[in-house]
Amino acid sequence: MRDQVRVFYYVLAAVSLQVATALAPRWDDIRVKHAWNNVPSNWESFGPPLSNTTIDLHFALQPQYENALIDALYDVSTPGSPKYGAHLSKEQVAQLVAPHRDTMDLVNSWFEYHGIPRSSISVSHGGGWLTVAAVPVFRANEMLGASYQLYQQSGTNDTSLLRTLRYSLPAVLQNHVRTIVPTTDFASPRRHSIGTTADLASRGQGTSNLHPGLVLVTPPDVSWLYRTVAYVPAATDKNSLGVVGYKNQYPSPADLKKFMNKYRTNAADAATYKVIQLNGGGYDPKNPDAESNQNTQSTRALTYPTPLTFYSVGGKIVYLPNLKPGPGDDMLEWLNYVIDQPDVPKTISTSYGNYERGFPPDYTIALCDLFAQLGARGVSVLFPSGNDGVGKGACLATDGSGKAQFIPEFPASCPYVTSVGGTTGGTTSKSRETAADLSGGGFSNHFRRPSYQDEVVPKFLEQLGSQYAGMYNAQGRGIPDISAQALNVVVMTNKIFDTNNGTSNSTPISASIISLLNDYLISTDRAPLGFLNPLLYGNLRQAMNDITSGSNPGCNTPGFSAIGGWDPVTGLGTPDFLNLQTLRDLMDIF
Ligand SMILES: *[C@@H]1O[C@H](CO)[C@@H](O)[C@H](O)[C@H]1NC(C)=O
Ligand SMILES: *[C@@H]1O[C@H](CO)[C@@H](O)[C@H](O)[C@H]1NC(C)=O
Ligand SMILES: *[C@@H]1O[C@H](CO)[C@@H](O)[C@H](O)[C@H]1NC(C)=O
Repeated sequence: MRDQVRVFYYVLAAVSLQVATALAPRWDDIRVKHAWNNVPSNWESFGPPLSNTTIDLHFALQPQYENALIDALYDVSTPGSPKYGAHLSKEQVAQLVAPHRDTMDLVNSWFEYHGIPRSSISVSHGGGWLTVAAVPVFRANEMLGASYQLYQQSGTNDTSLLRTLRYSLPAVLQNHVRTIVPTTDFASPRRHSIGTTADLASRGQGTSNLHPGLVLVTPPDVSWLYRTVAYVPAATDKNSLGVVGYKNQYPSPADLKKFMNKYRTNAADAATYKVIQLNGGGYDPKNPDAESNQNTQSTRALTYPTPLTFYSVGGKIVYLPNLKPGPGDDMLEWLNYVIDQPDVPKTISTSYGNYERGFPPDYTIALCDLFAQLGARGVSVLFPSGNDGVGKGACLATDGSGKAQFIPEFPASCPYVTSVGGTTGGTTSKSRETAADLSGGGFSNHFRRPSYQDEVVPKFLEQLGSQYAGMYNAQGRGIPDISAQALNVVVMTNKIFDTNNGTSNSTPISASIISLLNDYLISTDRAPLGFLNPLLYGNLRQAMNDITSGSNPGCNTPGFSAIGGWDPVTGLGTPDFLNLQTLRDLMDIF
């Protein structure tokens, strides 16, 4: 009897050992997820951080239903769809992006294996990500086969960032974890305005740097050109506009007041905005920045009295050697914050971006889906297409082949945002609106062409023929979608009127016009526009002013040309508010 029991236990032990071996994944069998061959150009390493340094890691998980979010996004954004305009709530989006139970179980047992306390794990970024707080860097290195070091952007005093040149994942997790941030993402957002001197000028010296002879672009010019002059916002209790600033670049209410006094005299007393600070973002109205001033001044002047929110996202803190890395990944931190809010401004303008090729593809794809979450919730998200035409410098490919390759921008290249290029002229009856030379444009290397571009982009490529073959991805998402005034746009900074150039101007101008349209729709009991592109490339295409001259030189080439129809310089063209209103109304009649 005793022997039988013993045999029974032996068998049981053997069986359970086998089961355990079959179920316990080999956490040490790791595969590289993303790696750079060298430290990305313009970055320097300062070596490993202090041994007690910790890092918050964000894990994007594979959703249970792979296409559910994007299908829902197109359902609510495509005119003619039965669900057009039926935007989703935060909770509905969370259900769409939720990972499968098996994914959660697997990832949790991996965390357990590495001794990650349950209490440090939370669901984030609208439900599809996990955030693990305060992981010791040595533990992160061990989990991810990584080597985190402090990196700083050369020639800046920016705070150093904790990044690694490579990271790996256990083979069994490769299909469950889409990306981990921060790891190999080096290209932090940078502003897209050029040339303002007001923020460098000594405070209070003189009141204007405006050069005689320049044709200035002011809010009255823009509202005349894009025909918003007569529109009075009527849904200001429900509609609002958001402007995002990074790197401790924020506006000044005093400058805004002076600007409004000059260009929106009926509104000067209400020259206010709400400030939300996150990720260590500062706010010192006495020390404003021209980029953020321009973004708030033009949106406020064009959409007053629509409420305005300014997000100050951190990321530029004076570097203190070896002391403390800067907080998180700027864009991801903003997304986490905004997606977590039950109510989000209906239109959001961000005049920042960077070269797509500086970001790992996994990272851009996962972030692009977070912008899609905003679209599904009825938010229009606009980004500049960049100021370097088709690219700056020799544009040598990063693969060392010595070939030149045009350099598109991200997030402009994400198909779920609306990217905005630049134009100039047309603000007086004497000139025509043409492409601005600096207008960023081209084709993504990370994102395929979305179906809403299938009608117009091939037409452009046909006209282009074999010119630039191999220098761009003909199957890629075309950039930009639309455009607006970019040059000689007036801004007031530190009590001095000045101008600046860039798609940084075009983006808040376009966002203002979209915000007025949202106001019009909401005040007539209709859904806001949300994700714009299927609508812009569809029913509203004819409402745009087609820009048919100019080009965007770069990479030692003449660049692309603006032609009739869509082009990778000015997109579909510049927005005409009255036409947009009319064509949007027609959609509800027929
Ligand atoms: C880490 O170590 C440094 C130097 O030993 C010390 O000054 C710092 O307070 C420590 N930080 C934490 C979070 O323990
Ligand atoms: C960085 O800080 C140093 C010391 O304050 C200063 O001399 C230098 O000009 C700064 N560099 C930049 C690019 O701001
Ligand atoms: C903006 O561009 C125009 C046209 O190229 C140029 O005349 C002007 O000086 C530029 N302004 C700034 C601030 O760089």
